[in-house]
Amino acid sequence: MEVSRFESQTAIVTGGADGIGKAIAQRLAEEGANVTIFDISVANSEATVGEFAERGLRIECEIVDISEESSVKAGIDAVLARSDGKLDIMVNCAAIVGPNSTPITEVTTEEFDLEMAINLRGTFLMTKYSLLAMQSANYGRVLNFASIAGKEGNAGMSPYSSTKAGVIGLVKSAGKEFAETGITINAIAPAVIQTAMVEGMNPDQVKYMTDRIPKKRCGTLDEVAALSCWIVSPEASFCTGFAFDLSGGRAVY
Ligand SMILES: NC(=O)c1ccc[n+]([C@@H]2O[C@H](COP(=O)([O-])OP(=O)(O)OC[C@H]3O[C@@H](n4cnc5c(N)ncnc54)[C@H](O)[C@@H]3O)[C@@H](O)[C@H]2O)c1
Repeated sequence: MEVSRFESQTAIVTGGADGIGKAIAQRLAEEGANVTIFDISVANSEATVGEFAERGLRIECEIVDISEESSVKAGIDAVLARSDGKLDIMVNCAAIVGPNSTPITEVTTEEFDLEMAINLRGTFLMTKYSLLAMQSANYGRVLNFASIAGKEGNAGMSPYSSTKAGVIGLVKSAGKEFAETGITINAIAPAVIQTAMVEGMNPDQVKYMTDRIPKKRCGTLDEVAALSCWIVSPEASFCTGFAFDLSGGRAVY
């Protein structure tokens, strides 16, 4: 592993106070990036910053609700003010799982709208304002978290699956728009990774998802961080507009 792969690079990781985002933030910081986590949870953000500091990793945090345009703009402006206007990496992990083990006929409109606001509008806002910040340097790496649910659709999770299909469409469009620049825009579509998100789900829904993984196990945070950090590294220069697989063999395309 190159120790200084991200030396002097500025990175934002949304949802970085917990789970997948936290693991990616840690690895980026370990490899030299100046990382700011964006998260809605004040308690988890403070705990994560403190935990990293104990390990000698300095990261910043901004309390941001990715579904709110003003909050996203303020968070990105705060990062740019610390970095002389430079943004190299944006990894967007923040999301909610919403209704699960719930047939579409029982999903309320309010539940659907909330899921769209955080998972899809939030991804749009983080992508748009990161791209605006990256344009002048003609370099950047945008990575949005989709899900295998967005490719296949998980029964019992229609709002979540819809938003994640939307994330895949968004990176495919934006990736093509920026294909002739030094900026790449990709997604990762994981199957099950053991995090608080999964712990909060109905066990029947988790069994439905894990039973479909040919490797017969969940993915690990290390495996997610390894693929993510390659996608946002300078080396990954010919990949854009793509949803990378991380599903233990479940995805067939
Ligand atoms: N864990 C899995 O099995 C799995 C599988 C496929 C895809 N994913 C995707 O990976 C990403 C990370 O998932 P995770 O398992 O680490 O989730 P998690 O619930 O452990 O962490 C999500 C983080 O996002 C934050 N967040 C939620 N709403 C927010 C908002 N409006 N603004 C800012 N922050 C907000 C939470 O506070 C939390 O810290 C998500 O996009 C998720 O959909 C996860």
